[in-house]
Amino acid sequence: MPIITTIDDLKRLHKRRAPKMFYDYAESGSWTEQTFRENTSDFDKIRLRQRVAVDMSNRSTAGKMIGEDVSMPVALAPVGLTGMQSADGEIKAAKAAEKFGVPFTISTMSICSIEDVAAHTKAPFWFQLYVMRDEEFVDNIIARARNAGCSALVLTLDLQILGQRHKDIKNGLTAPPKLTPKTLLNLSTKWKWGLEMLGTHRRTFRNIVGHAKSVENMASLHSWTASQFDPKLNWDTIARIKEKWGGKLILKGILDVEDAKKAVACGADAIIVSNHGGRQLDGALSAIRMLPSIVAAVGDQIEVHMDSGIRSGQDVLKALALGAKGVYIGRAYIYGLGAMGEAGVTKALEVIHTELDVTMALCGKRDINDVDRDILLVPEDFEGRWV
Ligand code: GLV
Repeated sequence: MPIITTIDDLKRLHKRRAPKMFYDYAESGSWTEQTFRENTSDFDKIRLRQRVAVDMSNRSTAGKMIGEDVSMPVALAPVGLTGMQSADGEIKAAKAAEKFGVPFTISTMSICSIEDVAAHTKAPFWFQLYVMRDEEFVDNIIARARNAGCSALVLTLDLQILGQRHKDIKNGLTAPPKLTPKTLLNLSTKWKWGLEMLGTHRRTFRNIVGHAKSVENMASLHSWTASQFDPKLNWDTIARIKEKWGGKLILKGILDVEDAKKAVACGADAIIVSNHGGRQLDGALSAIRMLPSIVAAVGDQIEVHMDSGIRSGQDVLKALALGAKGVYIGRAYIYGLGAMGEAGVTKALEVIHTELDVTMALCGKRDINDVDRDILLVPEDFEGRWV
């Protein structure tokens, strides 16, 4: 068994163990992937202030996200097709999150259903919604999330049409994979993945199959989004969904101060500053660059979270220091899942927690809730002068 000390170790194993089309799906940005790359490289531009001779005993990373206790303010982001990275992937990830004491968010485009996850966990999890043209389906899935005890609805606003990811088209991405000669050749080298997949009946979009009116190609994310996602989604739709849900509402995909203000006006509980991991509008600025101005504009009126680019505990600390009250990891835990199933997700959380804890201490802080902008060295032009 290889010794895992970094998220990159898990990424290498994920690449080796999961079918190419699913690894590529996770590891893609749209078009040129500029935003995808800058989401991580912009974190590297921020440095940390070393402080010494400060008592670093009795440290704590515990806090709250939308009023819920978390062992560290790091939630698992909604990720489509998680159950294709490893059999029953959403159940495995939700269990790892539950044991670690962090929130798990299930995607509308998951393989295991809301009900599957609820049947295998006790802690409430969060449900991410894509708004479909079919209102009946939307109302029904909101009711299903409520019945499953989900404690927050994460409404994604930045994917009503899919940003093109070249690799998915070239790989012919579907769930389950279509057995072409090329796919079969690749699958023949992924025997452990295949055996586990044969051992589960959860191999398609189970939140949707059997719940929605039939679509042409149920297995393809691309054709499903094109035919079913509602391109008319607007602030009135959001108000309708808020009313229908009636619980905690998190708006995901805010990257602009004006949109953040609208989110406040609509009465959401939190926003996620995000560019969808660089998978939607290529050419947009990185989420970490946009975070400070959004926090400055609305941070005292709404809980500001962020995702897109977090691959380490140091990244978590930097985002918190810039004013995020919580962050989400997507790829960082998906690498773990694809590498080693539930144990890999736990490993990813442990790696991130250790990095967060030790870095916080070396910056002279003992409590994550005391972390502020003071621990950072940020280049003066970090946010840039964009006109
Ligand atoms: C869907 O959520 C995707 O980004 O692929």
